[in-house]
Amino acid sequence: MAQPPPVPLLDLKPQYRALKAEIDAAIARVVESGHFILGPEVEGFEQEAAAYCRAAHAVGCSSGTDALLLALMALGVGPGDEVICPAYSFFATAGSIARLGAKPVFADIDAAAFNLDPASARAAAKRCTRLKALLPVHLYGQCAPMAELEALAAELGVPIVEDAAQAIGSDDAQGRRAGTVGRIGCLSFFPTKNLGAFGDAGMVVTNDAALAARMKMLRVHGMEPKYYHELVGLNARLDALQAAVLRVKLKHLDAWTAARQANAARYDRAFAEAGARDGAHALNAGGLPLRYPTAPGAPARHIYNQYVIRVPAERREALMAHLKAQGIGTEIYYPVPLHLQECFASIATVKGSMPRSEAAARETLALPVYPELTPEQVDRVAAEIVAFLRAE
Ligand SMILES: Cc1ncc(COP(=O)(O)O)c(C=O)c1O
Repeated sequence: MAQPPPVPLLDLKPQYRALKAEIDAAIARVVESGHFILGPEVEGFEQEAAAYCRAAHAVGCSSGTDALLLALMALGVGPGDEVICPAYSFFATAGSIARLGAKPVFADIDAAAFNLDPASARAAAKRCTRLKALLPVHLYGQCAPMAELEALAAELGVPIVEDAAQAIGSDDAQGRRAGTVGRIGCLSFFPTKNLGAFGDAGMVVTNDAALAARMKMLRVHGMEPKYYHELVGLNARLDALQAAVLRVKLKHLDAWTAARQANAARYDRAFAEAGARDGAHALNAGGLPLRYPTAPGAPARHIYNQYVIRVPAERREALMAHLKAQGIGTEIYYPVPLHLQECFASIATVKGSMPRSEAAARETLALPVYPELTPEQVDRVAAEIVAFLRAE
């Protein structure tokens, strides 16, 4: 029998095909205007994205990484300062701290949601002498435990910057939108995100008018007015073409997120029926040796930028290879925790010091969850995984 069609980890083509006329018209509008950097398209997108994020201000910029840099710079983070972040995230979280000459101080994650663990962050703070901020990440599209982190930040007298690169439209356990709980939230529109540009793009959101003005200045070399520089900033401007594409896509974001949530729920059901348990259970706690993501209850909202399971470390490579042979794409986010990255060897804590981050790096596997997947494709991916893990 012929093998069914492949299921890639992500396929962006159906989304473009569905919106082709609208997107092409938006691109043509920008090209004909001759206004390619910042300007009215960017301002329009900033207003619409701010409303979507329930933030008073949004400042578009050139990537999620630059959003992190702008946020930290606006808060005065510089050489010798310390910022606490999770040891398990995409590199940019810690890289942006280090790029400013500050020190990322790593804390461990919680095993179920892969997000910054408040108790570990509190222990990390005890090691700090120049702590300037907390930088939690809403990994895979699920909010970090913000109420606990807010209490800790208040105790420590430092602001929170939210790395919401993977979490546009996600809500925390109190129903508050990702990016608006801390002083500044940082978004990425990297093409694989739920709201993806046609290239690099990002944004900072805040309810603080003075910080928004400062970040606007910092994204254009610290310039205001033209050719007068109060600060040394970045070239971190957002292109009008990206803003125009993102304005079209933003209108569809909630529908896409709902489709991702439906796919996630379908995986959850298939895995639970096969004897797997959710991420609140240790891998060795019995049942099928697979843990699916713990879905947060309302009012929290998980936007499933990634659907990440946990499998025994010694079987992960073989499972990936088996799925690849079946035409099913998967990915490991992330194989090396941040504290063990070579570039942080001189500052970071040693192997074994962040056990939950290290276990996540060995055990996690991201499955296809993009909105256009059919129920049959989800069922097939789940069935292949279950059959593989059942076979000894
Ligand atoms: C958690 C996290 N932080 C920061 C970034 C950086 O965003 P960008 O790739 O847009 O620079 C990303 C995404 O790539 C991310 O996933």
